[in-house]
This record gives sequence, structure tokens and C-alpha cells, in this order.
Amino acid sequence: MTKILRFLMVLLACSFDLGESAKFLLPATSLLSMPSHYMSLTTITKALVERGHEVVLLIIDKKETKGFLPGSYTANITYANPMTDEEIAYVYKIKGSAMSILKNSTFLESVMDPSGRDFQKMMYFGCFELFKNEDTLRKLKQERFDMMLTFPVMDFCDSAIAAYLDVPYTLFTGTRRTPAFHEDMAGIPIPNSYVPFSSFTPLLTDRMNFLERVQNAFFHYGLHPIGEYFITYRPLRHLQRTYDIRQDLTPWQLITRAEIWLCHNTWALEHPRPIGPNWIPIPGLTIKKPKPLPEDLETFVQGSGEHGFIVFTLGSMTTSLASDGINDMFSKVFSELPQRVIWRYVGPSPRYLGNNTLIKDWLPQNDLLAHPKARVLIYHGGSGGVHEAIHYGVPMLLMPLAGDQGQNANLVAAKGMGLVLDPNELDEAILKTAIHDLLTEERYKANVMKGSGILRDRLASPLDTAVFWIEHVLKFGGDHLRLRSTEMGFIQLNSLDVIAFVVVLSSILIYINYLIIRGCYRCICKKTRKQKSD
Ligand SMILES: *[C@@H]1O[C@H](CO)[C@@H](O)[C@H](O)[C@H]1NC(C)=O
Ligand SMILES: *[C@@H]1O[C@H](CO)[C@@H](O)[C@H](O)[C@H]1NC(C)=O
Ligand SMILES: *[C@@H]1O[C@H](CO)[C@@H](O)[C@H](O)[C@H]1NC(C)=O
Repeated sequence: MTKILRFLMVLLACSFDLGESAKFLLPATSLLSMPSHYMSLTTITKALVERGHEVVLLIIDKKETKGFLPGSYTANITYANPMTDEEIAYVYKIKGSAMSILKNSTFLESVMDPSGRDFQKMMYFGCFELFKNEDTLRKLKQERFDMMLTFPVMDFCDSAIAAYLDVPYTLFTGTRRTPAFHEDMAGIPIPNSYVPFSSFTPLLTDRMNFLERVQNAFFHYGLHPIGEYFITYRPLRHLQRTYDIRQDLTPWQLITRAEIWLCHNTWALEHPRPIGPNWIPIPGLTIKKPKPLPEDLETFVQGSGEHGFIVFTLGSMTTSLASDGINDMFSKVFSELPQRVIWRYVGPSPRYLGNNTLIKDWLPQNDLLAHPKARVLIYHGGSGGVHEAIHYGVPMLLMPLAGDQGQNANLVAAKGMGLVLDPNELDEAILKTAIHDLLTEERYKANVMKGSGILRDRLASPLDTAVFWIEHVLKFGGDHLRLRSTEMGFIQLNSLDVIAFVVVLSSILIYINYLIIRGCYRCICKKTRKQKSD
């Protein structure tokens, strides 16, 4: 009965929507984008397809489609990729090496790593290939899209495509304050005094002392603009000049033309700060309803008894640690725990693997964290897993490797929902103490349970929220939501012209007053002198 009802409702919803169905473009031009990001974005496009919209995927040939959900697009336009198979293999190797290791090196070494530059070039490769390809560009123009859905990571090719096709676009972001994304770009003020800006130093929070505020200002005005210039501005400007794409707009203006920003953020984790009307939080978008565990895993975790189990994974792109030494160390520490451990790992069996540790090349992470016996998540700090752990109330031990993971980890630590370890300074004692603290001190569990409550306490699901706002700007555009700060220059935005005007005007008034007073004074003096001489 309920099935029939649901079927009728779906039918009704479909027939209702068909009249207003829109055509979306979903570009996937970068060879280096991450599966977890596509999973987020296609979660939204899948819902749009289910509501009767058309979604056309634009994809460079030979690109991995890991993370794309089935049924998340209705057609595709694939354009040529001149790379040989060896070159493609090399690209994926660079991607692997840059992302997949628990690095045994300092931060500076990893920045200086020559493969870093290849990495950036690869980001824009697919974009330049698209603009070289006139047939594909013509085809795209003929399609007359209503809107583009984009998820820029470190390349903003999508905003150039939108400008070229003259199609409005929405911007989805799962990261926080990287050079590729921060609130400044949406015109939202970021006061350094209480919004921590750094991704590097440990633990700047929303309560900073004088020296920390100096540091924060240095990151905001010093390091970030440099990163922005090299990572975002320069390649985008080069693209605009080479293919004559709206050269009247600066790269920043291209980016801030987005109708809305769908942001993977929750106040359960974030420090409170200003946001704008077109800045829509959709935290926990990819958290699915938990399914029962596969039988072998269920048996294994049930065997843990009252001690429960620990989940150890480094995300979708990382399957092993930098060295056998580190793997051996983890296996040794795990083998001494009363808990059971489920470890996502691919490689030779670590030396001290205990019988309480189960190694798997893939984990149903969401379902494991939802399990009542889950005690701790050991993780790199990626946004998806951190939100899952908060949602299910599981304390975290984070070892940030790259990207936004450092900032996520800092927030988790600041909110007392877990601990952060520097992956370069791991040793057996440090690891053991951290795991022990997380398991025995009750405040971690209490804090993360409170976070879980805050994250779940909302008017609508993140997916419904995203779909609502996309359809809202489809109907009305985004101009009524966009802060005018995005259109202003530095002088106007900071009212420097107004301050200068007021200073000049009051100087003139003061000077006139001075002249009048001096005139009167002289006049009086003259009179009294005259009276005296009389
Ligand atoms: C694109 O469409 C073609 C033809 O329908 C199909 O063979 C191909 O697998 C599709 N590519 C993707 C990424 O879906
Ligand atoms: C990190 O590298 C140094 C030198 O290359 C080495 O001595 C040390 O054992 C490594 N640490 C780990 C945990 O592998
Ligand atoms: C695991 O190993 C420990 C000590 O080596 C032993 O006491 C225990 O019985 C073993 N457990 C299982 C399930 O084999």
C-alpha cells in the first residue's frame, strides 16, 4: 500500500516538474579531481535528475569517473584527450604520490617537491584542451544550458566555461579557506581578529591573543594572496588571454559571478563568523542512511564485546602509509589494545599485525561509524569523514596530510571532539597515549555527541536544501543574494574615499574657523589698541 502511494507521489512530482525542467551542465575537465568531491556533486545532480531535470556531463576523455554516482547525469559530451596511455598513467601516479602518503617530510619539502608543479599544470590541462576544441565549444553553445553546477578544487576552469557560454552557475565547495576558496571571494568580510585564517600553524581559534592575531593577519594578507596569485589568478588570467574569455573581468570577478555558494560547513565544527545571503551551508550532504554491515565485519565487531572497535582509514585516495616502518608501528600499537581495529590498507602484511586487527582494502566507512560499538576514528581529516564522525558521535584521532585537512583537524581539536597528531612526528608512545586518552577521557565523547546533536538539528536535509536553492536561483537568478562588495574596488569597499572626503572637508572647515577666529582676534586687538592709544 505505501509502495503504491509512494509510486503515485513520485509520478505526481514528476508530472508536476516536467513543465519546469531545466538543462544543467556538469563539467569535469580536470584530470586531477577527487572521487569524494564528485560523490558530493553527483549526489546533488542525481536528485536533480530524479526531479525531471536534464544534466549533461562534459568530460575529457580518459578521465577517471570514480565517485560519479550512477544515474547522476542524463547525457554526456566527451572531448578528446591527446595524452597517451603512459602519460595518463603518469598523471595518476603524480596524483597518487602527492596525496597518498603519510609523508615523512616537512611541509616545506613537500611544497618544493618538483612533482607539485606538474600537479598544478595537470589541474588546468583538461581546461586548455577544451578551449582548443572548437567543435566541442560549438556543441556546448548550441545546447543552451540554463545553469552550470561546479565544484572547483584548485582550478577555476568552470567559471571560465560559464563566462564563455554566458551561463549562470552555482559553486559547490567542500573545502575551507584554501587559496582556491574563501569568503573574501564571495564578498564576505573576514575579520582577522576572530576568524582564524591559517592552514599551517596549529590551533588558531576564534579567541586569539595579540601575537596570534599578528600571525593570523600575516597569513591572511601575506601568504594567502601569494598562493591565490600563483594557484588561481595566474593560470586563469593566462586562459582568459589565450582564448579571449571575458577579458574585461578579472579572475576574481569570474569566480564571484556564481549565483550561490553551496558550502560543506556546519556550526557544530566551525567557529561562528559572518556569512552572506548566497552562502548556503549543506553539511553532511553525503552521509547516507546506515546499512547493516556485511556479515564478516558484523561478526568481527561483535567479537569486540564491551571494548568496541576503532576504524582506521586515510580516505578514498590513500591506501597505505609512507613506509613499512610506520605500518609496523601502527600494527604494534593496535595489537596491544583491548579494542578491535578495522584498518583500510593495501600492501604487505604489517609485521606486528595482531589478531584483533582486520585489514580490508575497502571499508563501508559510513556504516561502521554508525555502529553502536564504534569508539574512535583514526583519519587524515578530510571533510567527508570528519562530518560523518560528528554525525554519528565518534571521537577522532586526526593526522592531516594535505589540503583542508589541517584546518578541519584544528577545528576538531578546538571543539574538543578529538586529537590531532603531526604525521611527521609520530612514534609509538605518542600514538598509544593519544588512543588511550580518546578511549578513556569522557569529554571527547560528550563534545562529539553535542556536535552530533547540533549537526542533525535542522529544518531540512542538506540535499533538499541544495536542491531548493538551485531551483530558487534558476527561477530568480542570484543577484538579489549577491553582496555588492563583489563589485567594488578596494578603495570603495573600505570607504577610503569617504574617509579622505571627511578628512579634507573637516580640514577646510577647521581652516575657515581658524581664519574667522584670527580675523576676529585681530579686529578686537586693533580696537583695544586704538582705545588705549586714544
Ligand atoms: C558517454 O556516452 C557514450 C555514448 O553513449 C558512452 O559510451 C560513454 O560511456 C559515456 N561516458 C560517460 C563518462 O558516461
Ligand atoms: C623518516 O625519515 C628518516 C630519514 O629519512 C628516517 O630515519 C626515519 O626512520 C623515517 N621515519 C619513519 C617513521 O619512517
Ligand atoms: C588473540 O591472541 C591472544 C594473545 O596472543 C590470545 O590470548 C587470544 O586468545 C587470541 N584471540 C583469538 C580470537 O584468537
